[in-house]
Amino acid sequence: MEIRDDVREGYEKKLRKEPTCVFSDEIKIYPKMKVLVATEKPFAKVAVDGIREVVEKNGYELALLEKYTDVNDLYKAVEDADALIVRSDKVTKEVIDHAKNLKIVVRAGAGFDNLDLEACTARKIVAMNTPGQNSNAVAELVMGMLVYAVRNFFNGKSGSELMGKKLGILAFGNVGRNVARIAKGFGMDVYAYDAFMTADQINATGMATAVANQEALFETCDIVSLHIPATAETKQSINYNLVGKMHKGGILVNSARKEVIDEAGLLKLMGERTDIKYITDIMPDADADFKAFEGRYFATPKKMGAQTEEANINAGIAAANQIADFFKTGNKKFQVNK
Ligand code: 3PG
Repeated sequence: MEIRDDVREGYEKKLRKEPTCVFSDEIKIYPKMKVLVATEKPFAKVAVDGIREVVEKNGYELALLEKYTDVNDLYKAVEDADALIVRSDKVTKEVIDHAKNLKIVVRAGAGFDNLDLEACTARKIVAMNTPGQNSNAVAELVMGMLVYAVRNFFNGKSGSELMGKKLGILAFGNVGRNVARIAKGFGMDVYAYDAFMTADQINATGMATAVANQEALFETCDIVSLHIPATAETKQSINYNLVGKMHKGGILVNSARKEVIDEAGLLKLMGERTDIKYITDIMPDADADFKAFEGRYFATPKKMGAQTEEANINAGIAAANQIADFFKTGNKKFQVNK
């Protein structure tokens, strides 16, 4: 039987306007919620297929905005979205202002410094991340970048090995622990410092030896790997004095955020200390200046720590499930704007 277009439209409008379930003023559940995946750096196709399956299995509708270059495209796409999944995409107040129906935004990944949490909270939008889902991918890249660095960027000249070297891990969360696990396989001596863990807690993991503070980590280790989030406290905290504590041949590896580096200070240090190397998965603002340190600097052209099918599947599907769970039960377990 043919359904007249005006009847179908009326039916669809009704579906979107009348909630089937009301948890609170903020959480009203409709039969056909719209979940927008907005990724300037897209997930692998297999991950998008997995997200679609979760979304559609729950009776929701999936909308995709990938590889956008104009923020206006994002503003338009969020207009009728009930839920939003992003990666490092900036969810600013302007984005929130355009998202009139938005109830939840999930950063498919660990760091949520790209979400304007105040703007979310002001609109009673729940903001979440998916901690741990992409950590192995980031950790594997760290080790890959380290091998590349100690083998002189594969230039054919004799390099060195990671076995027996002291690796310092700054912040012992999901990524830091995965780095420790893999580094142990390389035969490295692993040390760690975490501002939110006691030395006993770190030692109890059996994966690393705790040091007293971050200065001690830089003094002790041949290589320091950064796993701190970008917060008001950590921004530009990796500076001239701190990195300058490393002994001869020190390597700094960054798979966290560019904002934690005091770029001017590090450039000054690398100018003075011709033995220090800086390896990063997040291109610094001063990339052109760092490039002057040939053979001691490497940056991936685009952040790719979490760019694996596995990490995309893990983080993307976790995000979709968290949204479905929130819509069905009000579960806010991974909320970050409490
Ligand atoms: C994260 O915070 O989860 C990582 O930095 C990965 O970011 P991405 O999803 O933009 O690759």
